[in-house]
Amino acid sequence: MRPNSHRGTIFLEEGEILQRTAYEGEQYLLRLRAPACAKAARPGQFIHLRCQEALPLRRPLSILRAQADWIELLFRAVGRGTRALARQPVGARLSLLGPIGQPFQLPSSEKPVLLIGGGIGIPPLVFAAQILHRRNHGRVFAAFGSEIPFPFAPKPAEFLVSGLPPDVIAAMPLLEDWGIPNRLASQQGYPGCFSGYVTDLARRWLQSLEPTAAAQTEILACGPQPMLAAAADLARAFGCACQVSLEAFMACGVGGCAGCAVDVHTAQGLARKRVCVDGPVFDAHQIF
Ligand SMILES: Cc1cc2nc3c(=O)[nH]c(=O)nc-3n(C[C@H](O)[C@H](O)[C@H](O)COP(=O)(O)OP(=O)(O)OC[C@H]3O[C@@H](n4cnc5c(N)ncnc54)[C@H](O)[C@@H]3O)c2cc1C
Ligand code: FES
Repeated sequence: MRPNSHRGTIFLEEGEILQRTAYEGEQYLLRLRAPACAKAARPGQFIHLRCQEALPLRRPLSILRAQADWIELLFRAVGRGTRALARQPVGARLSLLGPIGQPFQLPSSEKPVLLIGGGIGIPPLVFAAQILHRRNHGRVFAAFGSEIPFPFAPKPAEFLVSGLPPDVIAAMPLLEDWGIPNRLASQQGYPGCFSGYVTDLARRWLQSLEPTAAAQTEILACGPQPMLAAAADLARAFGCACQVSLEAFMACGVGGCAGCAVDVHTAQGLARKRVCVDGPVFDAHQIF
């Protein structure tokens, strides 16, 4: 089907499922053919997906990776929509709108970048890592946390990272392949993982930098609200910039209903902003 453009930036496509992989903890990776969305997608943006013909409301899911004519999604089946999506077979076609929303602003190569992802908030940071890798950004560290098994087989890290306990070696293979130092955190005692909050792991990395380098660091974070608040605190403590990707319940997903609005502190005072099109990425200091 030929994609219809929506305001010239959001496309309506019939995404065909090309690959489907199931992981522990009801987590699924889907690769969908969606050429218009794949071409325009940037890290932090999401798609609004019809999970099943019988379900009228679409569900928002972040773009994990975009390449050639496909996009990938990583999601956890938590309710009616995502469970229906998990049952869709390879070859099924699903109506999707995307890419939607304000992406992460990726900093120039002089600034260190700290990616912090928690649970189902990991996908947009993997996408950010992919683009930073393509740009040959040499100063990136990713800290990913999960309290259920990670949706990939962690491997021992090849890249040394100072400031961490020597037994913290578990890393995400994809980022290792891209040459991006990264470590995993959990409170479940998973082998090789940092034992504690993902933001504590991130703090260790920031503490290992020269104070001026730490203050120049740009933090990009996505995950549960308490984790985002902790990332904002971290940024305040080290004097660095921080962008957070928020979640909200969404009806239209394209700016028409204001059902997803949140309070944002602006120079003019408190303002209501729509998470779908004004976000989902916001300056952390405007939210927390
Ligand atoms: C911009 C954005 C990007 C997202 N990216 C991803 C992603 O990459 N992977 C992923 O697994 N999930 C992601 N989500 C969350 C996902 O949209 C919800 O899990 C999904 O809509 C739940 O639908 P459901 O019908 O399965 O569950 P429902 O039956 O609607 O709800 C089941 C449970 O999920 C909670 N829930 C529902 N919607 C949300 C929401 N928007 N935020 C937080 N909790 C919710 C409910 O409180 C309930 O406990 C994202 C959400 C947003 C707003
Ligand atoms: S979901 Fe309708 S405006 Fe955001």
